[in-house]
Order: sequence, then structure tokens, then C-alpha cells
Amino acid sequence: METAQRVYKGLEGVYVLESSLCLIDTEHGKLYYLGYDVEELAEKSSYEEVSYLLLHGRLPKRPELEEFVGKLRSEMRLTPEEMRDVQYAAKRTGPMDALAAFYLFASKDPSQTKDPMEHAIRAVAKAGSVLGNIVRVQRGEEPIEPQPELGIAGNLVYLVTSKKPEQYQTEFLDDILILHAEHGVPASTFGAVVTASTLSDIYSSIVTGLMTLKGPLHGGAAEAAYYQFVEIGDPNRVESWLERALAEKRRVMGFGHRVYKIYDPRARYVKAMAARAAELAGGRVKTLYEIAVRLEQAAIERLSARGLYPNVDFWTPIVYTAIGIPPGYFTAVFAVSRVVGWVAHVIEYWKDNRLIRPLHLYTGPEPGQRYVPIEERG
Ligand code: SDX
Repeated sequence: METAQRVYKGLEGVYVLESSLCLIDTEHGKLYYLGYDVEELAEKSSYEEVSYLLLHGRLPKRPELEEFVGKLRSEMRLTPEEMRDVQYAAKRTGPMDALAAFYLFASKDPSQTKDPMEHAIRAVAKAGSVLGNIVRVQRGEEPIEPQPELGIAGNLVYLVTSKKPEQYQTEFLDDILILHAEHGVPASTFGAVVTASTLSDIYSSIVTGLMTLKGPLHGGAAEAAYYQFVEIGDPNRVESWLERALAEKRRVMGFGHRVYKIYDPRARYVKAMAARAAELAGGRVKTLYEIAVRLEQAAIERLSARGLYPNVDFWTPIVYTAIGIPPGYFTAVFAVSRVVGWVAHVIEYWKDNRLIRPLHLYTGPEPGQRYVPIEERG
């Protein structure tokens, strides 16, 4: 099939696969997982139930959810070998790399069943328990046993804070995990599918996803947005900071999106959570929130004409800070959520697999260059 000989830089506007998992309605600023509005899922569902939806393509009946949650909870525990892997990786590298190392070790798991769904459930279940203990080890603390009965969100809060989570902490994190679970084929998911298209294993696809999400233009933006608020330091300094930043051609982190050219619906939901978090936590969380409110207003005034609005990463730093998650782990929390989106896309793509192998437009020297012996090259 002849295709026009032109490069679509960054694959902008190019459809690379078919998927039923999510619809991004850019015109109305809405996001749907299998037809369900994510804001309604965040309000009424749980990350566990949304994981079932993404992996099985429909909401579960009660017995199905109970069985699925039972499987997740049994896998949330870490074996002594897995604990050792976490400690080894966490002592040697950053949070995202340590998560990737865990999944690399997992991909060599001799007990690998043939059923990708079993591996998908295992990968989703392990993520929060592994990250929670990465945080502990990197803070110089001992890793501890996960508490599966707290659920994926509650268990992560417990591991990070060493305390039984407050209701609002679990609720906030569960909503954030739902909102980050799936978003079509951003760089990290596309990378995971490229890996899967070679019939590599599901864990290696997750490793690709993690290493891609790490970048500041993608998943790393929430941490960058946090330090942006810290750098501004005071709501009254927002306007002058923004003037200078734009003059220096800096990007407002947590703003802009390749697909949304209006307010990201996830950001809208998290903004309301951030307001509640600021009230509940007070102190510096409240100051960060006030800075974010002023920056959002000033940046929208300056940038919205170019389709630049807050994205999912703009408000999460406020909520993560209120929950007690350190900024260095914001991206890794995003990853804990997105593991289910990656494995759901891999399993969907494998149903009609096709090796992903695009073309390149050659711009090099004329073919047939004469090989000049080195003595004659001057
Ligand atoms: C995520 O794709 C997904 O689905 C990703 C994600 C998901 O759920 O997986 O939604 C998660 O990654 C959210 C995005 C988080 N990243 C950031 O917040 C980083 C800051 N944002 C930008 O770097 C940027 O907006 C991107 C990378 C997100 C999208 O950029 P594009 O589509 O490649 O646009 P571009 O870089 O070509 O910018 C177009 C113009 C440029 O100006 P000119 O060079 O034409 O003069 O807009 C400007 C840019 O300088 N611009 C910004 C800006 N983002 C773009 N100017 C100031 N601040 C910004 N944030």
C-alpha cells in the first residue's frame, strides 16, 4: 500500500492502532474508559474496579469483582525474593528505574504461566507494594509487609507514611489512580505496545513504559510543576515569575497537551481535590495551592489563545503533598496507576498482533559513495 512520502514528526495526528479502551473527546474536554466518563468513575468506582473494566472490557458483577480483588490482594504481598529485589534496586537507582528493575527481574520469573491476563493482574497488583517499599528503602527505612486489605491506594499510603491512612488520603489517591490509568497511546503506552508487537513479554513492555513515562515532557511533569510552585514561593510573585519564564522561553509545567487543546478533564477533577486537600492540610499545602490558583489564572490568560491549558499534572502535586508523597515519587505514582493501561493495551494489541515497524525518509548522501582508503583521506 503506497503511503504519502512525508514524515509526521512525533507521529502527530497519526492513528497507529485501533483501541476500545478510552475515548479522548478533545472538543468537549471529556475522557471515557470503555464509554464510562472518568469523572464519574473517579467519584463512584475504585482503582481495582476500573482495572477490571480496562482488562475485561466491562464492569464486573459483584462476585467477579470479589474474585478479581482477591487475586490482586494475594499478589500485593511481596515474596522474600521480591523484597530482596526491591531493596537491591532501590539502593542503586532512582524510583522509576527501581520499578523498572523490579519488572525486569519479574520477567525472568520461571513460574510464568502462558496466560497474559495472570501476568497483567500480577503486574498491576505489585506496583504499589513495590513503589511503597522503594520509598522506604531510599529514605533509609526498612521495607515492610504490604497491607493488601487496605486496597492498592490505601496500601501505598500506608507504606509511604508508615501509618494507617486517613479516609481522605485513600480516597484522594484512589481517585488519582483512576484518572491516570489509561489515556490512549501517549509515548509510554505506544512504547509498551511497540515492545509487545515483537512478542517480547508483558513485563518488558512495562519496562519500556516506565522508562518512557520518566521524561519531563510526559510523566515527569508533576514533579517539575511542584518545583515550579516552590520556585515561585509566593502567590504575589506569580505574575512576575510567569513574565520572566515566558521571556526565557521556559514551559509552564503541567500546562499544554498534544491532544487536549482545552482544559484536561482530569485536571478539572484534580483541581477540586486540590482545593479540599488545601483546606484539610493547611500550611504549605495551602500556600502551594494558592500559588497554583494564581499561576493557572495568569497562564491561561497568556497561553489559552494557543490552546494551552492545565493538564493532569498541574494540580496533582498539591494532592500528592497533602497525602504525604514526596515530590521525587510523583512520576512513580503515575506509573503505578498506568501499569494497568499499559498491560490492557498489550493484551488488546496481541489479539491482532502486527510487528510495529515504520519507515524512515532517507536524507543521507547519494548511494554508491567510493570507499577511500584511510591513507588517502588527508
Ligand atoms: C502527560 O499524551 C498524553 O496523553 C500524556 C498524558 C497521559 O495521560 O499519558 O496526558 C500525560 O504527559 C501530560 C503532559 C505533561 N507535560 C507537561 O506538562 C510538560 C509541559 N508541556 C509541554 O512541554 C507540551 O505542552 C507537551 C509536551 C505536553 C505537548 O507539546 P507538543 O504538542 O509537542 O507542542 P509543542 O511542544 O510543539 O508546543 C507548541 C507550542 C510551542 O511554541 P512555539 O515553539 O510554537 O512558539 O506551544 C508552546 C511551545 O513552546 N508550549 C508551551 C507549553 N507547551 C507548549 N509554552 C509554555 N508552556 C507550556 N507548557
